[in-house]
Amino acid sequence: HGTSKINDKGHLEIGGCDVTDLAAEFGTPLYIVDEALVRQRAREYVEAFKASGLRFQVAYASKAFCVMAMCVIAEEEGMSLDVVSDGELYTALQAGFPVERIHFHGNNKTPEEINMALDANIGCFVVDNFVELHLLNALAADKGKKVKILLRITPGVEAHTHEYISTGQQDSKFGFDLGNGSAYRAIEEGMKLSNLEILGVHSHIGSQIFEVEGFRMAVDKVADFAVKIKHELGLTFKVINLGGGFGIRYTAEDSPLPIAEYVKAITDAIISNFTNASYPLPEIWVEPGRSIVGDAGTTLYTVGTNKDIPGVRKYIAVDGGMTDNPRPALYESKYEAVLANRANEAAEETVSIAGKCCESGDMLIWDLELPKAKSGDLLAVFCTGAYNYAMANNYNRIRRPAVVFVKDGQADLAVKRESYQDIVGNDVIPARMKKPS
Ligand code: LLP
Repeated sequence: HGTSKINDKGHLEIGGCDVTDLAAEFGTPLYIVDEALVRQRAREYVEAFKASGLRFQVAYASKAFCVMAMCVIAEEEGMSLDVVSDGELYTALQAGFPVERIHFHGNNKTPEEINMALDANIGCFVVDNFVELHLLNALAADKGKKVKILLRITPGVEAHTHEYISTGQQDSKFGFDLGNGSAYRAIEEGMKLSNLEILGVHSHIGSQIFEVEGFRMAVDKVADFAVKIKHELGLTFKVINLGGGFGIRYTAEDSPLPIAEYVKAITDAIISNFTNASYPLPEIWVEPGRSIVGDAGTTLYTVGTNKDIPGVRKYIAVDGGMTDNPRPALYESKYEAVLANRANEAAEETVSIAGKCCESGDMLIWDLELPKAKSGDLLAVFCTGAYNYAMANNYNRIRRPAVVFVKDGQADLAVKRESYQDIVGNDVIPARMKKPS
């Protein structure tokens, strides 16, 4: 997919770059981002929204993969940016992302984070709860500012990968509950707070969703709520944000829809609901993360040791693991992979790919068909663009890999591999522990 192919040498090539060359130049493990594919995904959203005729913003959910180079691409592709912490906000600001297109999420924004965002004049806060509502108003008042907000509501639609249920929403740490009247009270209270301007509401029903029905149900609920608020409180929503969650294909088990179909389902449902209610059509925002960057990422590892337990299993160990991709350990996520330097060879055996961490759960892929892998071969694991680098960690003091963006035969470093100095950089040996020399 994307610009990936097998070249005449039998090597995997991404963005016109032979991955064996990338391994030689940048080392492994290595995150490789197919820049053209990221841009293509962004354009699929933008084009689908343009086709709807509605006003819109596609806010890239930076939590999926937040580095400065990615913020630049998001900006160039006309996207807005969803940030959920001071660190993501700082990254966006350092990358020069236009502040008016930054939206700040999170269920526990600290006063420091709110002040940082107020000082930066970001475009919108997505307010999650009553404490934040009043805190934000007070901090905005201190600075003599009036800030635009959305209220995050939990619409009573909980999307799972293949199913969604209409109950259980009260048991979520996020947002104002629609069913028990909290969302209504939040609007009522928010309207009285003079340093806040309520633009509308936000709903996010889940992640890695393959069907449109959950989004339709969320639109129906939000539209009913909008009509009720307009009639009873006299506030018209200018913006409806439907969050992210659009699924991608990690393995053959996954069957996501084309991006345009998710967007069409949402925009059609908005148009019919709001038109039927004679309500001015709101601007629609979405927050895709995974579906922008997920399938554009590939992680390249070097094969090291193996352990063959005859009749049981053969383990092939690579030079990374749960430190660069914690998703299999956390969610039992599945991935596909190939031997990147022998991508034209037929599979000969079934192996399981182990990471190098001191933990039995550090397995990346179970039961993968591969040619007989030897030490020094390269393994490419696909669809690692979202929530991999973003969730990478230093367990076992393993250094986080480098990230390169590839495009048209050119490979550019976007994040340097961590150094040993990075590993101990924040360590301090208290003076009392120092031995006299
Ligand atoms: N908007 C909100 C409010 C969200 O909470 C999320 C994801 C998104 C947008 C973006 O969702 P996406 O389009 O990427 O599905 N670490 C997990 C995923 C956690 C998603 C959290 N919120 C994973 O690796 O699968």
